Amino acid sequence: MSALVEIRDLVIAYDGAGAMTLGLDSAELTVARGETLAIVGESGSGKTTIGMSIGRLLPPEARIESGTITVDGVSVVNADAEALRQLRRDHLGFVFQNPMTALDPTMRIERQMVRAIGGKPSRDAIAALLRRAELDDPDRVMRSFPHELSGGMAQRVIIAMAIARSPKLIIADEPTASLDASIREKVMETLGRLREENGASMVILSHDLRLISRHADRVAVMYGGRVVEIGQSATVLERPAHPYTRALIAAAAGNEKPGERLEPILGAPPVLRGPGLKCAYEPRCGIARPECANNRPEARPVAARTVCCHFAEEVAAATSDTEEARTE
Ligand SMILES: Nc1ncnc2c1ncn2[C@@H]1O[C@H](COP(=O)(O)OP(=O)(O)O)[C@@H](O)[C@H]1O
Ligand SMILES: [Mg+2]
Repeated sequence: MSALVEIRDLVIAYDGAGAMTLGLDSAELTVARGETLAIVGESGSGKTTIGMSIGRLLPPEARIESGTITVDGVSVVNADAEALRQLRRDHLGFVFQNPMTALDPTMRIERQMVRAIGGKPSRDAIAALLRRAELDDPDRVMRSFPHELSGGMAQRVIIAMAIARSPKLIIADEPTASLDASIREKVMETLGRLREENGASMVILSHDLRLISRHADRVAVMYGGRVVEIGQSATVLERPAHPYTRALIAAAAGNEKPGERLEPILGAPPVLRGPGLKCAYEPRCGIARPECANNRPEARPVAARTVCCHFAEEVAAATSDTEEARTE
């Protein structure tokens, strides 16, 4: 069966005050049916841009310059207003970073749930849905205004709304970033369980490598508006083939021991003013050579994943050596 989502060669520009910024610079991605794909990368790498492009929910200053996006065989780029409305309503469920801004502060949860479900759902049906999102006092939640709920409860309401119409795809943009660290894992579990019960696919956008590594079948690593490495989670996270993936993992590992300084990735991510002619990671890369500054690496298969790096074989070999050394 064909992939549920296919993104090819996608270029998206933002027209800001006086300056153009590229949000995506030839991004490529597929989402298989029933899979959970995590998209990781530092802030500004293009995660939100690619996630929102799937529902064409980009802000007005964004322009799709070229490329294709298909969801279940339907072209999102060419869809008319009615087709888009249908796609968003019937096939996609969104969970955003901050549940409080996603909810309407002036409306009780019950009314917002009715809108999300559509038609005239019974109170029991709404309560059942809230219970599935692990809200154990659904009557109280339904009577509440958003500000009367904790952040975790509000995000569970959003999750219930996102799955209300059994979407084929759930897109969760930093779904636990605004929540207390103590409940992040639990909320992720709920999200994962509901995805599975619905047989849906899920795309999780996150900069938290450790959180998503436990919940994703595949991982896509973004840098400079491109997917620079994509493959099975274990393959990419245990034996990275892109130097940026390797640096991200090192930074996350430093984070594991409280009190210890995390190993930062030196330098800052790029702000793209036009299509890249070189490797966007070259200025920060420890193994960069002249080739990297002269030619942009295109996506190619190396060691069971797809990667954009001229020296991916070398990186993959080095990381599998360290793996072996560790397990000896
Ligand atoms: N509304 C916007 N106007 C101008 N530039 C934007 C806008 N949204 C995102 N960008 C730029 O596009 C790039 C990708 O951003 P984004 O998709 O938000 O990344 P992420 O979600 O990974 O942090 C960044 O350089 C960012 O500054
Ligand atoms: Mg973002």
